Amino acid sequence: MDIRENVSLAPLTTFKIGGPARYLALARTVEDVRKALAFAKEKERKIFILGGGSNVLFDDAGFDGLVVQVAIEGVERDRTAFIVGAGENWDALVGQAVESKLWGIENLSGIPGTVGGAVVQNIGAYGAALSQTFQWAEVFDTTDARVKRISKEEYASGYRESIFKHHEGRYAILRAAFALSDAPSPNISYKDLAQRFAGREPALPAIRSAVLKIRAAKFPDISKEGTAGSFFKNPLLPREDALKLQAHHPGMPLFDLPESKEVKVPLAWLLDHALNLRGYRMGTARLFERQPLVIVADRGATAEDVRTLAEFVQEKIRRSFKIEIEPEVRIV
Ligand code: EPU
Repeated sequence: MDIRENVSLAPLTTFKIGGPARYLALARTVEDVRKALAFAKEKERKIFILGGGSNVLFDDAGFDGLVVQVAIEGVERDRTAFIVGAGENWDALVGQAVESKLWGIENLSGIPGTVGGAVVQNIGAYGAALSQTFQWAEVFDTTDARVKRISKEEYASGYRESIFKHHEGRYAILRAAFALSDAPSPNISYKDLAQRFAGREPALPAIRSAVLKIRAAKFPDISKEGTAGSFFKNPLLPREDALKLQAHHPGMPLFDLPESKEVKVPLAWLLDHALNLRGYRMGTARLFERQPLVIVADRGATAEDVRTLAEFVQEKIRRSFKIEIEPEVRIV
């Protein structure tokens, strides 16, 4: 396996930001992962497991350790389940599921990144979350260098939550299994989809293409702009508190989540209507004009500018609403 030295991280991320990694390993097999981690141990370096780089902000100074890019491939089908290498592209998997007439992940169309990254994040969109189909993940445990299986129960999902977020750096995901369904089960409860399909029962490919269209209209094009999608998690509040906030801000919608009893307060709405921060810029970073929850970085932008803008938003939200918000993007 090849380990390179002093490799720029910026091109490996959708933000296109980040200095060099002291070491970078590309792991195509479980054995590669094992060797890479042994190498890090020998050199007494910290490790960072990277997937598609679509949810990470590396520091301008880079990462003084070993970055392991997991590129394990392979898609196997077992009846209505898919068992997939962590390095496979998430959206290609969704495309394959839809072509195979299997339901369950179509609302998660168009999300950039790898399957491994999607599992860590418990990605969610348009009323669906990955945890609804997650069955198990095969992982490499760096604490004892063994391959293990994380069950659905151990996965411990919540809104953008999973075991992998609570044990950062411990596990490298190798493969994951998703239980899909051949029985039509459209989930068009989310506002944007409900409007589009009002009263009609959509076919599976129609849901996928609707989600892709909605996303394209709302999010920046990552081939043109530096971004990692939503920079913050939406705050979750007990229903009572959310309703109180809504009473102060008539017109603000509230959202139920598949993974939580608490209510999602739309941060994008608050940034837009209550704080008027659409397009707000600090240095080389700005809040996206069509979706202010998304931070967009100019070409050549610095991580520092992105972090300064993020801290500004956090402070604004704290002072205006007494709500603490957390980044969704991993800041390294
Ligand atoms: N809104 C505004 N002004 C805007 C944009 C949005 O007022 O400029 C309001 C609208 O009322 C809208 C509401 O904010 O109904 C929520 O916006 P949206 O539907 O775009 O959802 P979101 O909560 O901002 C979340 C996810 C997205 C996911 C969408 C769709 C998080 C952190 N983000 O965004 O995921 O695609 O829902 O389900 O939960 C990501 O995680 O990177 C991501 C893009």
